[in-house]
Amino acid sequence: MKTPDVCIIGAGSSGVCAGKALKARGIAFQIFEKGTQLGGMWRYENDNGQSSAYRSLHIDTSRKSLGYSDFPIPAHLPDYLSHEQMCGYLESYADHFGVREQVRFGSEVQRVEPRADGRWQVTLADGSTRDYRAVVVANGHLWSPRWPTFAGGFDGRQMHSHHYRTASPFEGQRVLVVGIGNSAVDIAVDLCRSARRVCLSTRRGAWLMPKYIMGIPTDRWGSFLNRHLHLPTRWTRSIVSRLAFLSIGDQRRFGIPRPAHPVWREHACVSQDLLSCVGHGWIAIKPDVRELHGDAVSFADGSREAFDTIVYATGYDTRFPFLDPDVFAVRDHEARLYRRIAVPGRPGLYFIGLVQPIGPTIPLVEVQARWLAAVLAGVVPLPDEATMQAEIDAHLKALRRRYVDSPRYTLEVDYREHAGQLRRDIQRAIA
Ligand SMILES: Cc1cc2nc3c(=O)[nH]c(=O)nc-3n(C[C@H](O)[C@H](O)[C@H](O)COP(=O)(O)OP(=O)(O)OC[C@H]3O[C@@H](n4cnc5c(N)ncnc54)[C@H](O)[C@@H]3O)c2cc1C
Ligand SMILES: NC(=O)c1ccc[n+]([C@@H]2O[C@H](COP(=O)([O-])OP(=O)(O)OC[C@H]3O[C@@H](n4cnc5c(N)ncnc54)[C@H](OP(=O)(O)O)[C@@H]3O)[C@@H](O)[C@H]2O)c1
Repeated sequence: MKTPDVCIIGAGSSGVCAGKALKARGIAFQIFEKGTQLGGMWRYENDNGQSSAYRSLHIDTSRKSLGYSDFPIPAHLPDYLSHEQMCGYLESYADHFGVREQVRFGSEVQRVEPRADGRWQVTLADGSTRDYRAVVVANGHLWSPRWPTFAGGFDGRQMHSHHYRTASPFEGQRVLVVGIGNSAVDIAVDLCRSARRVCLSTRRGAWLMPKYIMGIPTDRWGSFLNRHLHLPTRWTRSIVSRLAFLSIGDQRRFGIPRPAHPVWREHACVSQDLLSCVGHGWIAIKPDVRELHGDAVSFADGSREAFDTIVYATGYDTRFPFLDPDVFAVRDHEARLYRRIAVPGRPGLYFIGLVQPIGPTIPLVEVQARWLAAVLAGVVPLPDEATMQAEIDAHLKALRRRYVDSPRYTLEVDYREHAGQLRRDIQRAIA
């Protein structure tokens, strides 16, 4: 390879996939990875200190919906891969396409700064600097805990789901899990057989989706309706939720409130086990936390209960510690990126994987990577700054209209719409 002219930050699924796409276009790149191994989020106890994976984590996107288009996940693997299997798959992908050789492990990027000549200066933790024509940020967005602020104080242990690994430290304890995202639900299920009592608190409920409907992974039903019958995502999710009803019935029977918003306005909450655990009396559902009282917590329904530990599964803030916020920052409800990738007015700065899709992340980021490679190869020119800003404004308006008003939806995208737009740009050779 020629001297790298593009720097990629991170060797998780997004950074590796970006490298592969650049290589296919003959663009020389260097990946800097803070940890000593590949895999990012999917490497349990990753020595980068950033992985939110717990021991029992299995992906909630099924095998056939999940893999890269030109490197299918082997059929002997189960429908829902464990983090270990997922990490193994990412490693074989990187090796198959010769991306690993371009990764410099144990190299944390500490600063990324624009230079007067239009290039980007990258400073590593060892103090060395080099400059590039472009920087591709793929540092992951699910590692910096978002903490809620509740009135009062709690004397027991408080932790974020990011730091949860196994149930064993909580054996015999009374544990409150706050939130009803996928982390909250997985962790409550994981804890409930060994803890003395597990309560899950939710402020607005969620539409529960099982992992299987009639023995078929739920997202395969969605793919069939969405990609084969070309139904809009809104219809697809409404139909799938009706099918799910046949499988799980009315979740209110289990004390889980039905949200006031329709199913297509939220990020899917997928669990095959939650209702069964509630049905066995292992998990109790509570409304929003009202106040913390030393060793107890009171809730919006007036109930009060003592706990040993609170696990806040309240999601993540998006952070780029190596970037000056004046250069780029994500604020709640606002990530100003053209096509969710390019920063207007900052040519050469790009973000890959900075999305939370309705649908699988990994194949979506593959399309983003192809788009970016086409832009960097000069095949797909970007529009002027005013056009970029207008596209972003329209996207943010649609986002606010469509999804529930919560910081959780700042990076939400619809898989089909986003991938379709990027593919059209590549076909038309103009973004
Ligand atoms: C618990 C959990 C479950 C999930 N389940 C699913 C699922 O079922 N389906 C799905 O599609 N998605 C799922 N996701 C989303 C998942 O994050 C994405 O699928 C994807 O793997 C993210 O990859 P990434 O490369 O963008 O980020 P990461 O995997 O976080 O990788 C980022 C990499 O960047 C490196 N890095 C960060 N900062 C620096 C720096 N300054 N210098 C050098 N290197 C740096 C990190 O060390 C890391 O290796 C899940 C996420 C979580 C937290
Ligand atoms: N098995 C899997 O594949 C798996 C497992 C875990 C995570 N993930 C993925 O990882 C990403 C992050 O998931 P996550 O569950 O960690 O975070 P999340 O999706 O952001 O969910 C956070 C939850 O906490 C609630 N919450 C936030 N702030 C709150 C507050 N102040 N008071 C009360 N409740 C509050 C949110 O409620 P509101 O909706 O009301 O804001 C939501 O229920 C998602 O993309 C998810 O799909 C996947």
